[in-house]
Amino acid sequence: MELFRNICGLATKTISDRYDISMLQQLEKVLNRSGVSFFGSREFLDFGCGTGRLAQLFSGYMPDAKLYGCDVKSYLVKRCARLVPRGNFFVNGVVPPLDLEDGSVDMVFAYSVFTHLKEDAHIQWLREFSRVLKKGGYAVLTTHGYECLKRMRKFSPEKLKKYQIEDLDNFMVRKEQYYWVQNLRKEPDYGLAVITDKYIRDNWMKVSGMELKGYEPAAVEAYPEGCQDLVILIKGNG
Ligand SMILES: C[S@@+](CC[C@H](N)C(=O)[O-])C[C@H]1O[C@@H](n2cnc3c(N)ncnc32)[C@H](O)[C@@H]1O
Repeated sequence: MELFRNICGLATKTISDRYDISMLQQLEKVLNRSGVSFFGSREFLDFGCGTGRLAQLFSGYMPDAKLYGCDVKSYLVKRCARLVPRGNFFVNGVVPPLDLEDGSVDMVFAYSVFTHLKEDAHIQWLREFSRVLKKGGYAVLTTHGYECLKRMRKFSPEKLKKYQIEDLDNFMVRKEQYYWVQNLRKEPDYGLAVITDKYIRDNWMKVSGMELKGYEPAAVEAYPEGCQDLVILIKGNG
């Protein structure tokens, strides 16, 4: 076992560290296919930074970038500030604005945040990202679509139950465009969202004024959420 741990590098990294790094590697690979990289960013916002697991990695991989992070939960923001002292972390509301100037960042990254937002809130956030992005900047966002639900059915059916979808095949035939259910009784704004690729292509550019740079269903394999789709928007010069 010790030999296995050493050969695999497990002695120096926990399983969850390795999971997070592998996830970023998958995301970076997909970004690169569209000519984008996390590591080209100089002013980076981790929107919905949660426990700081990714902010911590970005801080290490992007030592010269100015790092911002925000979340609706103040205890998570405090935790991030402790974990990444050089970061600029702040609490935001359920809906915009962010405490950032117009055109102040060149990348907004939101991993598994649009997987939870109500439709109206997510539209407001898309517009807000366009406001805080510099021209030529990117919004890199993950979503849950049908691929995710199919994987959940197979690998984590308990999680799929929370979506209150009785018959997944029938659900996918209906092609509901933006599906949202409340997940936690105490949190009326936090739920589980399923956004189809059609909805994204038909609406996101229209409401945000940004352009679609890349879209990849199941860009990241993930447990227990099945997988996450990746959308790259660019703020053009218009
Ligand atoms: C599934 S977690 C993902 C956290 C982090 N991005 C990660 O990958 O570890 C979703 C996060 O989004 C945050 N969140 C939910 N609604 C938000 C909003 N309107 N603005 C900012 N953060 C929000 C939650 O508090 C939570 O930390």
